[in-house]
Amino acid sequence: MQKTMSRKQQIVNSAINANIIDDSLTVIGIMDLDGLQKTVQRAYAAFPDNFFHTFAVKANALVKVLASLRKYGMGAEVASPGELLIARSAGFEAKDIIFDSPAKTMADLRTCIKHDISINIDNLQELARIDNIIKEFPDTQSIIGFRVNPQIGSGQIASTSTATATSKFGYALADGDNRQQLMNIYKQRPWLKSIHTHTGSQGCELALMASGVKVITDLAEEINAVIGQQQVVRLDIGGGLPVNFASEEVTPSFQEYADILKATVPLLFTDKYQVKTEFGRAIVAKNGVIITRVEYTKNSGGRHIAITHAGAQVLTRTAFLPKSWPLRVTGYLPTGEERTADNSELVATDVAGPCCFAGDLICVNQTLPKLAENDYVMVHDTGGYYFSNHFDYNSLPRVAVYTVCGEDEALQIECIRQADTIADVLRKM
Ligand SMILES: Cc1ncc(COP(=O)(O)O)c(C=O)c1O
Repeated sequence: MQKTMSRKQQIVNSAINANIIDDSLTVIGIMDLDGLQKTVQRAYAAFPDNFFHTFAVKANALVKVLASLRKYGMGAEVASPGELLIARSAGFEAKDIIFDSPAKTMADLRTCIKHDISINIDNLQELARIDNIIKEFPDTQSIIGFRVNPQIGSGQIASTSTATATSKFGYALADGDNRQQLMNIYKQRPWLKSIHTHTGSQGCELALMASGVKVITDLAEEINAVIGQQQVVRLDIGGGLPVNFASEEVTPSFQEYADILKATVPLLFTDKYQVKTEFGRAIVAKNGVIITRVEYTKNSGGRHIAITHAGAQVLTRTAFLPKSWPLRVTGYLPTGEERTADNSELVATDVAGPCCFAGDLICVNQTLPKLAENDYVMVHDTGGYYFSNHFDYNSLPRVAVYTVCGEDEALQIECIRQADTIADVLRKM
């Protein structure tokens, strides 16, 4: 019986046939839109109708990908003017966008509220600013909530754990009399209609995430009880569903997360609240791959080394934190045939990137079918936070760039790149 070809083999063959990958390839990223659609369908199938899934744009800030996610029924969670511009370019309407960031400027806040873009407030100083802005736009349709840090502790990766006691994100609920303060804050502001938490990303156990969601659900119930009516109508439970980078298996699944949430916080699964999620990595990671070419191979100290064009510039997390972000690779002959133990000798291999620092490695000391010059290497599960966002998409719009020339005190200073504000972004639309 003929074996059916895997999706990834199809991708490699198609890319070779279309001359997208050949002996001059350096590095490309490929997103599988069919896979993406199935992933979104699985997310919607796992949760009831009162759930609305937004996509965390930081995970994959490519307009074409975002336009597809919008078509499949998702909203957009953005955390910078650049992400907002990209989300708007992908066709997301203001009502389906939520702006989260711990560093919103006064102009960002004012523009969001004026244009009905929802906001999660990070801290009391931001609240004071919004108190003033709301007076200007009392009829805003922006749904405004507080980001609450339930302080439930860290997962396995410190840099993606957002709900620790000392996290930089949100309002620290368990500190001093903060809980009581928050009751008063909501009571005095009928326009505060939502509560947000994002209890952590990769490395967090589902039970830990669910316990954070329980904290904000109990809080919403308490606030509504104190006020005497249901003022809080939306619970934004963030993203954070971890991804399995060790194999092709999709685990944990959206269904597993939904089951744990339902057991921990059954109220979410009634119609009482609109529940919003902000999944990023779990939507895109397994639907994207990087393909690069082996430029050279060598042997150093008994280790087979394959030098490719994919390193820290597209695999930033893995290059700098390899223990937290291990990635799998598969080798292909220039013909597209997968390298396996049947057609190649198995050898201890480092697959390296092109950057000039020793840590620029995709994987270290892996037993792999021996790679050769001009082979292709696929780096799996890289659809989120790798080639697709490259970090400057998110941060560059905040950075103005100048040149200086001349001498002494009369240097000529020229701005060659403006720092966009949200207002600039909307003006350009
Ligand atoms: C507020 C917020 N929501 C959602 C996400 C997406 O997280 P993930 O990609 O792990 O689902 C993040 C990621 O850092 C975030 O900070």
